Amino acid sequence: MACEGQNTNEKVPVIEVKGLYKIYRVGENKVYALNGVDFTMNRGEFCAIVGPSGSGKSTLLNMLAGLEKPSKGQIVIAGKHIEKLKEDQLVAFRRQRVGFIFQSYNLLSTMNAVENVALPLSFRGEDRKIRLKKAKKYLKMVGLEKVEDHMPNQMSGGQQQRVGIARALVVHPEIIFADEPTGNLDSKTTMEVLKLMQKIVREQNQTLVMVTHDNHLATYADRIFHIIDGKIFKIEENHRRAGGEEDENV
Ligand SMILES: Nc1ncnc2c1ncn2[C@@H]1O[C@H](COP(=O)(O)OP(=O)(O)O)[C@@H](O)[C@H]1O
Ligand SMILES: [Mg+2]
Repeated sequence: MACEGQNTNEKVPVIEVKGLYKIYRVGENKVYALNGVDFTMNRGEFCAIVGPSGSGKSTLLNMLAGLEKPSKGQIVIAGKHIEKLKEDQLVAFRRQRVGFIFQSYNLLSTMNAVENVALPLSFRGEDRKIRLKKAKKYLKMVGLEKVEDHMPNQMSGGQQQRVGIARALVVHPEIIFADEPTGNLDSKTTMEVLKLMQKIVREQNQTLVMVTHDNHLATYADRIFHIIDGKIFKIEENHRRAGGEEDENV
């Protein structure tokens, strides 16, 4: 019998969403930001959530990441119903299980690159020496070993976002959530950053959930979840994924 976990074709669900609604009250009106959403995302998958502005992408991501509570429905992450968790349990869940990459890099301006990357580890009570060692390893992984002591204002947008990626990865989360992560980058840097995220999560068998309004960026993902008006209307297997070695010469 083959060893468990050796079969890479085996689908292991990491995120399961059932009947998810988010309804905002705005004055007398109700806004159905999420209007009945169901799907599963698996370990090792790069999933893009794509849709126009106002379609519910950020609401969905915030809910998956435990930053906002759903109005109705279930979100099961690694077997845990996160819609049932209390605030302090959600904080622990976020620190232990997930990483975030934001559009605005959210680096601390008073800390250099290594210190920024090491920050999430200090919330876990890791020793300073180990923190810095791990931070340097991840900065190297994103190609920034030469600027590890630079302050954010001494780095380009692309470099700052690489620091943001290293910071998200340093705790080795099962899932990485990215909301328009390349929104502030030029198209060449965008491509590099997407390829980098794609490569790292594939190597480490992590699940990457990326939100974008840009259909082209979604072509870097393994599966594309199309959302409009708070509903997933199509989930597409992306057989012609961009960014792989196979299309390097295209
Ligand atoms: N805090 C809020 N209060 C009221 N309405 C909101 C709130 N957040 C989002 N919405 C509404 O929910 C819908 C989806 O928003 P959002 O998830 O931010 O879309 P996207 O990220 O796809 O641009 C929009 O109509 C937006 O105006
Ligand atoms: Mg948004």
